[in-house]
Amino acid sequence: MVAGINSDSKNLKKMASIIKLKNVTYSYHRILAIFNISLQLFKGEYVGLCGPNASGKTTLLKVILGAVKPRMGEVILFGRKIHKGRIPAAIRRRIAYVPQMVSVDRNFPASVKDVVRMGRYAQVGIFKPFKKEDETAIEKAIKFMELEEHVERPIGHLSGGQQQKVLIARALAQEPEVLLLDEPTSALDFKMMETLSTHIKALHDELGLTILEVNHNLEVLQKNADRLIVINKAIMWEGAADDPEFENVIKRVFFTQG
Ligand SMILES: Nc1ncnc2c1ncn2[C@@H]1O[C@H](COP(=O)(O)OP(=O)(O)OP(=O)(O)O)[C@@H](O)[C@H]1O
Ligand SMILES: [Mg+2]
Repeated sequence: MVAGINSDSKNLKKMASIIKLKNVTYSYHRILAIFNISLQLFKGEYVGLCGPNASGKTTLLKVILGAVKPRMGEVILFGRKIHKGRIPAAIRRRIAYVPQMVSVDRNFPASVKDVVRMGRYAQVGIFKPFKKEDETAIEKAIKFMELEEHVERPIGHLSGGQQQKVLIARALAQEPEVLLLDEPTSALDFKMMETLSTHIKALHDELGLTILEVNHNLEVLQKNADRLIVINKAIMWEGAADDPEFENVIKRVFFTQG
């Protein structure tokens, strides 16, 4: 099934469309990364995005963020059509991004708090002084991710899982409406993965954030997300997180590749 119409779709249509892609194609020179992707994300949804390695998941997030410009198709954010990948600052600051894990140099000269503060520049603008509300947003982000005891530590001294939490706190300091997460629980042990996915779920349930999360851990996505999208350059399937068809789609997409 392509672009499945599930029983919730009528209700979803009544909700505000926050991210809309229409027939988007992107290639890195000769490497086709995503092909003819159409999708929508509605306000307050938690959508899981999965697909094999190199299936275009990170590229799809980059298109939404304006980091790469689609070769073909349209991107519409908060009802506004984006021209040439140039996202107006007022829209860009409503969307935060947690990138796929990169290991931080042990000697990187920034504390946990410095890194979280960087997230706030998206709201304030670089080189502008922070006001009280900015400091409050930073404190709240640190508290929400339970990083208080680590704030003064150099970021490079933290474990991989702790660093992932810091990256999410940095995104939260922006006080976004939408959070794009690229494999936030990869390389974590079982317990840390549980902790972090509980936090992410709370961002949705308690703070009301709209979430698009890439994850290879399909169980986490099935448990947390409302809706799932499977891609392999093109959209292979989308449906409710509890749709039993999902298991078959995964077998087909992951195990019958040429
Ligand atoms: N900067 C780049 N330059 C050239 N090719 C790229 C670049 N980034 C990605 N690609 C290619 O585009 C395709 C899609 O990559 P992408 O990173 O979007 O996949 P992904 O689904 O996120 O994979 P993974 O699960 O491994 O993170 C791959 O074939 C990849 O090699
Ligand atoms: Mg990726």
